[in-house]
Amino acid sequence: MITSVNHSLLSHNTFRMDVKSDLYIEYDSVSQLLSILDAKMVRGKRIFHIGAGSNVLFTGDFHGVVLHSAIKYMETVEETDDYVDIKVGSGVVWDDFCRDMSQRGLWGVENLSGIPGEVGASAVQNIGAYGVEVSQSIRYVETIDMLTGNEHHFSNAHCSYGYRYSIFKNKYKDKHIVTSVIYRLFKHPMPRLEYAGLKERFDGMDNVTPLMVREAVLDIRSKKLPDPSEIGSAGSFFKNPVVSKERCAALLKQYYGMPHFKVKELNGFKLSAAWLIDQCGLKGMTVGDAAVYEKQPLVLVNTGHAKPEDVIELASIVKKAVKDKFYVELYPEVNYI
Ligand code: EPU
Repeated sequence: MITSVNHSLLSHNTFRMDVKSDLYIEYDSVSQLLSILDAKMVRGKRIFHIGAGSNVLFTGDFHGVVLHSAIKYMETVEETDDYVDIKVGSGVVWDDFCRDMSQRGLWGVENLSGIPGEVGASAVQNIGAYGVEVSQSIRYVETIDMLTGNEHHFSNAHCSYGYRYSIFKNKYKDKHIVTSVIYRLFKHPMPRLEYAGLKERFDGMDNVTPLMVREAVLDIRSKKLPDPSEIGSAGSFFKNPVVSKERCAALLKQYYGMPHFKVKELNGFKLSAAWLIDQCGLKGMTVGDAAVYEKQPLVLVNTGHAKPEDVIELASIVKKAVKDKFYVELYPEVNYI
C-alpha cells in the first residue's frame, strides 16, 4: 500500500495538470481497500477514485483523498470450446489486457487496443473505438459499496450501458468502486471491420487475426491521436452529440456532406464533434498552453504547462463556437474534478 500526503497528481493525469491532493492512497487488494474505507483519515472525506487519469480534467488541487487500485491479475474463470471468461483486476493497464487477449488469438477487445486507462475505468466509461464498445465484452462487474463495504456483483444488464455511459457514472457515481471486471472473449473469428480505416485495410482478406486488427488499430490511432507519453491530453474532450432526425435533416440542407450516423437506441443521429469543431476553424487554437489538436480537433492538448483554467476556457470557447454556428450543444467526455 502506498500512502502520501500533499501528493502531486502530475503523473496521475494524462492531461498533465500540475495539481495536488491532500492524500493519495494506492492499494493492491480488496481487503486493503476495505481497511482504507474504514480508516479514520479517510472516513467522511471527499474521495476520488482515479484510474490512469486518462479521462479527467483536474480543475485545481483536490481537497480530499485520491484512491488508486493496483489490483493486478488476470484469471480464467470459465472456458468452453467457444469462449473464455476472464476476470481482470481493476488496476490492470487496459492495453496490457488487450495485447494479451490478441496474442492469445481471442476475439472481442482488439478494436479497443491502445486506449489509455485501466480495467476498472473501462467498465465505468464504457470505452469505445472503431465500431466497438467494451460493454459488448463485459459479463460482470464486481464492486465495493463505499458506504457499507459490501461486495456487489453487477451483471452487464444491470450496468445500464450506453454510449460512454454506465450506471457507475450516474446512480452509483462516487458510491461504488470497481475491483474487477469479467470479460467474455471468443475463440471463433469475430472481426469487426466496418469502421472506415479498418474496412479498406482488410478488404477481401481471409484469415484475419485479432493481432492483425490490433496492429491496424494502433497504427490508425498513432496517426490521429496524440501519444500520451509525448503530449498531454485526455483523448476526446467532448462526446459526439446526438440530435433529432429533424435537426439533422435541417443541418444537412445547409451543410451537405456533414457526417451523421443513425443511432436507433437514442432515436436520433450522432454527429461528429470533430467535424463540427473543424468547421468552426478552431484547429490549432490556443489558450495559454492548451490547444485544439491539429490532427483531431475533438482532442484538447496540453502543449507545455497548461493550467486547468486554460483548458476550461478553451473548452468553453469550442462549445460556444459550435453552439453559435450549428445550434448544437457539446457535452464533455472528460470528467471535470
Ligand atoms: N474529422 C474532421 N476533421 C478532423 C478529424 C476528423 O472533420 O480533423 C471528422 C471526420 O468526418 C471523421 C470524423 O471526424 O470521419 C470522425 O473522426 P474519428 O474517426 O477520429 O472519430 P471520432 O468520432 O472523432 C470517436 C471516439 C474516439 C475513438 C474514435 C474511433 C468519441 C467521443 N470519440 O472519435 O474515442 O477513438 O471515435 O472510433 O466517441 C476517446 O474517447 O477519448 C476517443 C479517442
